[in-house]
Amino acid sequence: MARLDQRHPAGAPGPWFVDERCIDCDAARHVAPGLIVRNPDDGVSVFARQPTTEAEVAMAWRAVLVCPTRSVGHETSRQPPADVFPHDLGDGVHRLGHNALESFGAHSYLVVRDGANLMVDAPRWTRQLVDPIAALGGVDVVLLTHRDDVADADRYAAHFGAEVVIHAADRGAAPYADRLLEGTDPVEVASGVTAFPVPGHTRGSVLYHVDGHLLFSGDSLAWDPRRERLMAFRDACWFSWEAQAESLDRFAASGLTFDRLFCGHGWSHDADPATFTASLDELVGRMRR
Ligand SMILES: [Fe+2]
Repeated sequence: MARLDQRHPAGAPGPWFVDERCIDCDAARHVAPGLIVRNPDDGVSVFARQPTTEAEVAMAWRAVLVCPTRSVGHETSRQPPADVFPHDLGDGVHRLGHNALESFGAHSYLVVRDGANLMVDAPRWTRQLVDPIAALGGVDVVLLTHRDDVADADRYAAHFGAEVVIHAADRGAAPYADRLLEGTDPVEVASGVTAFPVPGHTRGSVLYHVDGHLLFSGDSLAWDPRRERLMAFRDACWFSWEAQAESLDRFAASGLTFDRLFCGHGWSHDADPATFTASLDELVGRMRR
């Protein structure tokens, strides 16, 4: 629960606040854009203004439940509404919230689809998600994008009887995985789901391309809203920046296009496939300079 006695003084006056335990993972800003912003003085999250509309109050509650340090709160209202997460983002994709501190607040997703429901990376284990996920049909396959963001994937997989997929190079983070990806060749891991290994951010990073137009990028690729272009995290590249550029170049040449990008860290984004393709080419060029 957020600590009122540690309320950040730079936040907008009013009942909603962020406390000073914020680790600047960005997650709250992703679910409450414009409402929660980065404080220019210290880089952590604060409320730019208090929510006024029903939609903004819903955004604030999402921020409460997405925050891995539980730093977002309301002075008196402590009980979130029942339906905050999973948050339906369209095309069967749901943000799961409840981001884990071990994942440094990475986002995870449930994709509800004919055939096989997917969980992409995992939230922390909470009963608040189990029943709603079950109501959406449960989980058939857990797709892990890389070693950093596995959180409580093992518990969700065990509960729902799901198969777990990770790249062999990152297997140490999920020794319970049922299926290990090898090398860099793309593999169809379920009908309509292509795993595309992209060593770089970590040795075993993987992109998952789903149903012809959805791309789950883990921490290998994100959108930069300020510059309106794709980006990669050079300061959070744990294996090889050169390899990451090579991997993203291979993906760009694969013909697997997308119009919806869902990230672990960083900003997700929707754009037409041509925009993403051009931006990906430009990113690879920038990474190699
Ligand atoms: Fe990561």
